[in-house]
Amino acid sequence: MTQISTPPASLAVVVGAGGGLGSALLAQLRSQGEYARVLALGRRAALPLDYFDEASIAAAAQSVAASCAESASELRLLLVATGFLHGEPGQPERSFSQLDSAYLQHAFVINTIGPALVMKHFLPLLPKSGRCVAAFVSAKVGSIGDNALGGWYGYRASKAALNQLVKTAAIELTRRNPGSVCVALHPGTVDTPLSQPFAKKGLQVRPAAEAAADLLEVLNRLAPSATGCLVDYRGEILPF
Ligand SMILES: NC(=O)c1ccc[n+]([C@@H]2O[C@H](COP(=O)([O-])OP(=O)(O)OC[C@H]3O[C@@H](n4cnc5c(N)ncnc54)[C@H](OP(=O)(O)O)[C@@H]3O)[C@@H](O)[C@H]2O)c1
Repeated sequence: MTQISTPPASLAVVVGAGGGLGSALLAQLRSQGEYARVLALGRRAALPLDYFDEASIAAAAQSVAASCAESASELRLLLVATGFLHGEPGQPERSFSQLDSAYLQHAFVINTIGPALVMKHFLPLLPKSGRCVAAFVSAKVGSIGDNALGGWYGYRASKAALNQLVKTAAIELTRRNPGSVCVALHPGTVDTPLSQPFAKKGLQVRPAAEAAADLLEVLNRLAPSATGCLVDYRGEILPF
């Protein structure tokens, strides 16, 4: 794979810019200078957005569209780094006996429905020609083909559903713009609040800055032929 250059006057958006991985992606995109502007979106960002409130997602997309118009730039990178595994709504299930409606609903809102609404409001902002990338951070455990261990029903199922949304959107985006790339990403195990309770001895946990650098490197090299895939931080295509 070779490095593909980004057109000038390009704008990048990071959704989930307050998270462990999202903040590292934002910092590196800003320091690399490949995009003329990099906008941060998140629950506490200057452009606020919360997946439980579709109006906030629509308003954030309108602000991004206005920013593009003002600066005569085009949205060339949409990077969605949101996700939920554990917290107040519950913990990942070890057994089907632990399946819980509230936990499942929360996991699906943050891992699936929220990113779907981001697709609805942001993908129309991508240009209709030339290279553009929409990347949704997913997880290898969302791969049905790779599931050998079981457990984590809600997280696995909500990420598998996200992968299907990405594949479906990729097909539509290609019809609109053959230069587009729309992928799901697996970042590896990264040292963030999401993974901390599950970091076991012997498991390779990488700093967020390293994972972010790897993902941006992979995205920079992905050709349109990779669209619709689940790609890991080394650039390997994983089974769905
Ligand atoms: N860490 C790992 O080992 C690992 C492994 C595989 C996959 N992943 C995936 O990597 C991605 C990033 O996770 P992380 O490790 O950085 O976790 P994290 O630090 O816990 O970040 C969670 C993210 O989810 C966002 N979020 C939570 N609730 C939200 C809501 N109601 N509305 C909008 N956004 C909401 C947060 O956005 P704010 O900016 O608003 O806080 C934050 O960006 C996730 O998709 C995760 O599944 C992580």
